[in-house]
This record gives sequence, structure tokens and C-alpha cells, in this order.
Amino acid sequence: MKFAVIVILIAVGGILFFGAPFSQQPNLAMHYNSPEPILPMTFAHLDHVATPCIKCHHNYVDDTGMETCMGCHVSNMDVWPLLEEQFHDLCRDCHVEKLIAGEEAGPTRVCIDCHLEDAFP
Ligand code: HEC
Ligand code: HEC
Ligand code: HEC
Ligand code: HEC
Repeated sequence: MKFAVIVILIAVGGILFFGAPFSQQPNLAMHYNSPEPILPMTFAHLDHVATPCIKCHHNYVDDTGMETCMGCHVSNMDVWPLLEEQFHDLCRDCHVEKLIAGEEAGPTRVCIDCHLEDAFP
């Protein structure tokens, strides 16, 4: 029992200090009806009220359609292979820009800051 507690403490400590390495992502699953197991997304609109809707909801203006983001991005085989690249460019790049500008920013590095399951939106 004690041993288990210590192991958990070390694991949590490791994640806090170094970020979860990919091999330790606990939540790979068929999220959003994805064809292969993927990580969940952490996202809250309340953290993003300063950003215009269409910065993210490009589908409101470009006639791609009116699904949820992930509804399209895991089912459209043109963009499915680009999921990591496209979403990291959108989400992480903005956070990095804000951080460099010395403003309030979202997560830039620690995987589980963006990849734990949460309640939308
Ligand atoms: C920083 C990016 C971002 C901004 C800005 C943003 N959203 Fe979202 N929105 C998302 C993400 C990510 C989801 C989760 C969708 C999913 O899981 O597929 C979402 C979900 C939603 C949903 C649920 C249905 C859907 O389309 O997925 C609605 C409705 C919505 N947003 C409306 C808005 C409106 C209105 C605004 C502007 C006032 C806005 N959002 C601004 C990223 C954003
Ligand atoms: C109806 C389908 C659909 C919905 C809904 C949708 N997308 Fe997309 N998305 C696409 C397609 C198709 C592309 C590739 C073609 C393009 O760039 O228009 C794309 C491209 C992108 C790109 C890359 C853009 C670039 O310039 O490289 C990002 C980032 C992105 N989507 C994020 C989102 C987010 C975030 C949401 C929800 C807030 C969302 N998408 C909703 C279909 C969709
Ligand atoms: C245009 C800039 C921008 C974009 C695009 C953006 N974010 Fe953010 N995000 C921010 C800012 C700024 C904050 C900090 C808000 C605050 O602290 O008040 C933030 C905060 C967050 C947080 C909260 C972190 C915490 O400490 O609670 C998460 C999670 C997050 N963003 C995830 C995402 C995801 C996922 C996407 C892409 C779907 C995304 N963000 C797209 C600017 C952006
Ligand atoms: C700023 C937020 C953010 C950070 C930080 C982040 N990601 Fe992501 N990542 C996303 C979003 C949003 C998606 C697309 C939605 C999804 O996959 O749930 C994504 C997609 C991915 C994908 C492709 C599909 C999947 O979910 O498996 C991989 C792999 C991935 N991320 C790995 C990582 C790893 C590893 C780290 C840490 C080194 C990391 N991400 C950090 C936001 C982030």
C-alpha cells in the first residue's frame, strides 16, 4: 500500500516537473468517434473570450459545414492525418505568441494541460 502511494507520488511529481511523456498519456481512446485512439482535448470558451469566434470556427465563414470541430477533423480523411499539426499550430502557437509577448497565455508545453478529458465547451 505504502509502496503504491509512493509510486503514485513519484509519477505525479514527474508529470508536474517534466510534462507527461507521450508513452504515459493515460487517455488515448476513441474520442469524438475517431477512427483510431486519440487524446481528449481540454478547452473552455471562458479562457478565450478575447479571441474572435472565427479564429477557430473557420467553418462559420468558409462553407465547410456546421459540425463540431472534431466531428469533421476525425472523419474528413483530408484533414485527419493533419490533426496534430493543425491543432497544435492553432492552439499552441497562439499560446506561445502570448507568452513571448508577456501576456496571459494558455499551455505551451505540458501535454496534459490540453489533453485531459473535461466538460465542453
Ligand atoms: C480559441 C478557439 C475558439 C474560439 C475563439 C471560439 N471557439 Fe467555440 N469551440 C472551440 C472548440 C475547440 C470547441 C469544441 C468543439 C469540438 O469538440 O468539436 C468549440 C465548440 C463550440 C460550440 C459547440 C458546437 C461546435 O461547433 O463544436 C459552439 C456553439 C461554439 N463553440 C461557439 C462559439 C462562439 C459563438 C464563439 C465566439 C463568441 C466561439 N465558439 C469561440 C474553439 C473556439
Ligand atoms: C464542417 C467541417 C469542419 C468543421 C466543423 C471544422 N473544420 Fe477545421 N477544417 C476543415 C477542413 C476541410 C479543413 C482543411 C481545408 C481548409 O483549410 O479549409 C480544415 C482546416 C482547419 C485548420 C487548418 C487551417 C490552416 O489554415 O491550415 C485548423 C487549425 C482547423 N481546421 C481547426 C478547426 C477548429 C478549431 C474547429 C472548431 C472550432 C474546426 N476546425 C471546425 C473542416 C472543418
Ligand atoms: C488566439 C489565441 C488563442 C488560441 C487560438 C487558443 N488559445 Fe487557449 N488560451 C489563450 C489565452 C490568452 C489563454 C489564457 C486565458 C487566461 O488565462 O485568462 C488561454 C488558455 C487556455 C487554457 C487554460 C489553461 C489554464 O491554465 O487553465 C487551455 C486548456 C487552452 N487555452 C487550450 C486551448 C486549445 C485546446 C486551443 C485550440 C483549440 C486554444 N487554447 C486556442 C489563447 C488562445
Ligand atoms: C495548447 C494545447 C495543446 C498542447 C500543450 C498539446 N496539445 Fe496535442 N493537440 C491539441 C489539440 C487541440 C489536438 C486536436 C484534438 C485532439 O486530438 O483531441 C491535439 C492533437 C494531438 C495529437 C494527434 C491526435 C491525438 O489526439 O492523438 C497528438 C499525438 C498530440 N496532440 C500530442 C501531444 C503531445 C505529446 C503534447 C505534449 C508534448 C501535446 N500534444 C501538447 C492541443 C495541445
